[in-house]
Amino acid sequence: MPASVLEIVRDELLDYQGSGMSIMEMSHRGKVFDAVYKESIDRLRKLASIPEKFDILYMTGGASTQFALIPLNFSGKGRTAGYVNTGTWSEKAVEQAKLQGVDVFMAASSQSEKHNHIPAVIEKKAGLDYLHITSNNTIYGTQYHTLPDPGDTKLVIDMSSDFLSRPIDWKHIGMAYAGTQKNAGPSGLTVVVIDREYYSREKSDTPTMFRYSTYGKNESMYNTPPTFQIYVFNLIMKWIESTGGLTGMDKVNQEKAKYIYDAIDASPNAYIGHSKKESRSLMNITFNLTDKSKEDEFQKGAQNLKLSGLKGHRSVGGFRASVYNAMPVEGCKILAQYMNEFGEAI
Ligand SMILES: Cc1ncc(COP(=O)(O)O)c(C=O)c1O
Repeated sequence: MPASVLEIVRDELLDYQGSGMSIMEMSHRGKVFDAVYKESIDRLRKLASIPEKFDILYMTGGASTQFALIPLNFSGKGRTAGYVNTGTWSEKAVEQAKLQGVDVFMAASSQSEKHNHIPAVIEKKAGLDYLHITSNNTIYGTQYHTLPDPGDTKLVIDMSSDFLSRPIDWKHIGMAYAGTQKNAGPSGLTVVVIDREYYSREKSDTPTMFRYSTYGKNESMYNTPPTFQIYVFNLIMKWIESTGGLTGMDKVNQEKAKYIYDAIDASPNAYIGHSKKESRSLMNITFNLTDKSKEDEFQKGAQNLKLSGLKGHRSVGGFRASVYNAMPVEGCKILAQYMNEFGEAI
């Protein structure tokens, strides 16, 4: 979270803009919260250039719930949906579709190469209910740099770990979703952007709270939405606007990642990047040490510089620098300098 946003939250926590109440204490149907809700929807539409045909929904349950809701609403037993497997999160999405009897068409996979790249070619098939992809692979450190053409269907995209980090091309998208907890706020809010055309595919026996149209028709207030998270999400978007919008954010994210990738490339004797260069993620930078016996030493040295959370996920090992929107440029420079010094000593 950007420190400047946390400071606003702190200052407004007990008395939201002279209302005499915390935003957390207000009714979601009251005038004050309604203004925050509307402002946040308008802001997101403008910030991410979301075309009018899409609804913006505020849901809960994270991306993990979306993995189940997508086939529940738009596919089902005896139907076919496409998936691209680029890592653990894609696999979890596939698992939920298979559980519901969906015939999963694997359009491409990076599994045989330890998910070290984004497949360049996607096999097309007519009549898919959708083609699901994961735009940034948090664990493996790979990312789509252009979205694939899904043929005669639309993309459904898990954007959990790169949402609002760069501009989005909506041309091939039917639906995109993300938990806000990485780039856009605290945990507890899932933002869904969905083409209203999709509502007509919903099955009539789907429980009310599990249907997207319920959220679309009720301004995401059929039940009580996560009001505090929506308020903070709006503040984060304001902060992104102040960095130059998504284009500005992308520029900063490119600069941040470059410092660290340059450090990996400068010391091939010390570091092995996990991702192939053309698929490198700007959000999660994954690398191993050539000499694994030095991992503890590397970790301790980083800790001394207050660089924390660098341990890689167990499926890749080594290290992972997660440099989401709020990570300051300065922190990336410090890590890169440390990596250069550590690398030179090997
Ligand atoms: C790409 C991606 N998808 C899905 C998830 C799961 O998200 P949630 O915990 O919000 O269900 C994560 C979490 O890190 C993720 O990075």
